[in-house]
Amino acid sequence: MILFKNNIFYLNTNKTTYAMGVFNDGILAHLYWGKRIYNEFCADEVFDFQHRHMAAFDCDCKSTDYIPLEYAPQGGADLRIPSMEATYSDGSNLTVLRYCDYEILNSKPKLSGLPATYAEEGDKVETLVVHMRDELQNLDVYLSYSVFEELDAITRSVRIVNNGEKFRLTKAMSFSMDFYGMPKSDLIHLDGCWGRERTVTRREIVHGNQNIESRAGASSAYHNPFIAVCDKETTENSGDAYGFSLVYSGNFVAGIEMDPYGCGRVYMGINPCKFEFILENGEDFQCPEVVLAYSSNGLSGMSQIYHKLYRTRLCRGKFRDADRFVLINNWEATYFNFDEDKIVKIAEKAAKLGVDTMVLDDGWFAGRVDEMAGGLGDWLENKDRLPNGLKKLSERINALGMHFGLWFEPEMVNPVSRLFEAHPEWILHVKGRTQSLSRYQYTLDLTNKEVCDYIIGAVGRVLKSANIEYVKWDMNRYMSEVGSEFLPKEKQGEVMHRYILGLYYILETLTSQFPNILFESCSSGGGRFDPGMLYYMPQTWTSDTTDALERIKIQYGTSFVYPYSAMGAHVSACPNHQLGRTTPFRMRCDVALPGQFGFELDLNKCTDEEIETSRRAVEKYKELRNVFHRGTCYRLRSPFSTDLSVLEFVSEDENTVILCVYSKIPTVLAADEYIKLYGLDEKATYKLGGKTYGGDYLMNKGYKLCNNVEYASSVLGFIKIN
Ligand code: GLA
Repeated sequence: MILFKNNIFYLNTNKTTYAMGVFNDGILAHLYWGKRIYNEFCADEVFDFQHRHMAAFDCDCKSTDYIPLEYAPQGGADLRIPSMEATYSDGSNLTVLRYCDYEILNSKPKLSGLPATYAEEGDKVETLVVHMRDELQNLDVYLSYSVFEELDAITRSVRIVNNGEKFRLTKAMSFSMDFYGMPKSDLIHLDGCWGRERTVTRREIVHGNQNIESRAGASSAYHNPFIAVCDKETTENSGDAYGFSLVYSGNFVAGIEMDPYGCGRVYMGINPCKFEFILENGEDFQCPEVVLAYSSNGLSGMSQIYHKLYRTRLCRGKFRDADRFVLINNWEATYFNFDEDKIVKIAEKAAKLGVDTMVLDDGWFAGRVDEMAGGLGDWLENKDRLPNGLKKLSERINALGMHFGLWFEPEMVNPVSRLFEAHPEWILHVKGRTQSLSRYQYTLDLTNKEVCDYIIGAVGRVLKSANIEYVKWDMNRYMSEVGSEFLPKEKQGEVMHRYILGLYYILETLTSQFPNILFESCSSGGGRFDPGMLYYMPQTWTSDTTDALERIKIQYGTSFVYPYSAMGAHVSACPNHQLGRTTPFRMRCDVALPGQFGFELDLNKCTDEEIETSRRAVEKYKELRNVFHRGTCYRLRSPFSTDLSVLEFVSEDENTVILCVYSKIPTVLAADEYIKLYGLDEKATYKLGGKTYGGDYLMNKGYKLCNNVEYASSVLGFIKIN
């Protein structure tokens, strides 16, 4: 898997090769990443870097300004965007890293305090740790590369160790990589806002720096911590696609700077904006992990690598491989207007349809009249709404044969709460300045372990007070006026990263204390849908927008990185609460089916026909979820470019193929559309209803959509018969 020969490191997965080399004077040069290469590289050629006029020679007779580098600290001859910046005790800000040695491990070590992908016993995974050093500053930098041979993924991370005098670290990317041949390439990213998360944006890479970032204190709905670089010709199912995904839930930056010679430096890591870390002698800084996925089979091929890796080696715990719950959530059904009987009535109706979990959303705790009124932070029971308590309600839900689930927003506090009264200093704020409210709440200061332990205690107490088997962990505001009374003044630049470390500590503790609870993460919908959160909670509420047509796009964009098994997807009432649009009931079911399926409405208000459609949808979901969640997903038509959106899922055993077809504007007698399928056995025969098709026919001629889509949506199951 990992080989070092003639000064070149080869990192091989089944289908890819990543290579870097130690050049004169200890420069670690990036040489290649792409389709598997079995032969050795020609060293004379790969180390022959073209001289550029005006570049300063800082390594023998060459310049780091044009050598493609594996990591690029600032201050030397390299004038491109740096991956690391520091100010040392002597006032200088030049870091000079030179190769020292390397180590190959037969495993993948954990990252201290941070989520990351992992290896299980028997996995073919190796880790290369390359040791770089700045002799003058007594600084050691360890570049780690883990190779998942069978999953075709490579992860990178960086650890910076100070063995010298105290200094200020002001930028520490998780990786950078210099690619030649950038002209004629595109950059893809997923951007949006509340309710319109992960819109796919594809733009040309031009000279200069192009980036996306979050400064919100969470990975955010504005940008997802993911970018892809691909050729102009790359499509969903053909061409080169290079993906970069950061396992982190806070501020990040990701981008590419293309120099005048067509070399692009791709980088990703914690956003240097609002970031600074003081490293004393003997202290280290661990950067979050970035996951690299290359495919020569286009963007779907790249996503398939992420789906499998994240589903099986990022998500953890009892629910990783289990069929999850089929939920009904009362939020859109009742908002704050509920009592015990109303919740039980919703559950009763749902239970008859095969729904197995009733989730009680916001409003169950004392002080919570509406979102303007207090209670966040205290987590005491609301005896007005639930006079018999959560225990009694959970018992009544359990008596219906259902699990009981509960909403929390533990990172927040309302100004009207016992907690804030007792500890006004426990919120993020800058002393002497007004702290702004958002949704009438403040963010708790998770840099303070006492605050973290309070949250663990308060949430834990509620979880033990009744039979709670599911938790929706919400977070509904971004950070502003960021400061901590707990940290000394020289460490105020550390607050936003330390907040995330505090959050990870809380999640690690609670998920280990309650291994039998299914945790779902949420941030006003998908405002913190990132790999960091998936490490602790295997699913996320994808978006507050439940309108079917919008959801097609949101889920499609989300699937660039995240598997459908990670996406909470519910059927809601119409006119839709976010948009006022009415879509067919069956379409709402069909759109939610591939995700973690559930309902977000009062089924007692549905017509008999809608109830029957719901019953059939639950049945179909239970029959097909294995294929949606564990199969291979191909995106065949994008809702961002056409009115038709098509997804294909091929089961792990390759015997079932599901086609999800959604049409924004169904047209009577429209032109025939043929959808070419992927991943079939070309010699096999597939059956759909009463018809049979050859695998090669479906892949080359395609499946003909009748009259476009009869009901605006269809979920079709092909079965391999021989
Ligand atoms: C957020 C969530 C919603 C709901 C509300 C409750 O907006 O995304 O699903 O839980 O909070 O206040």
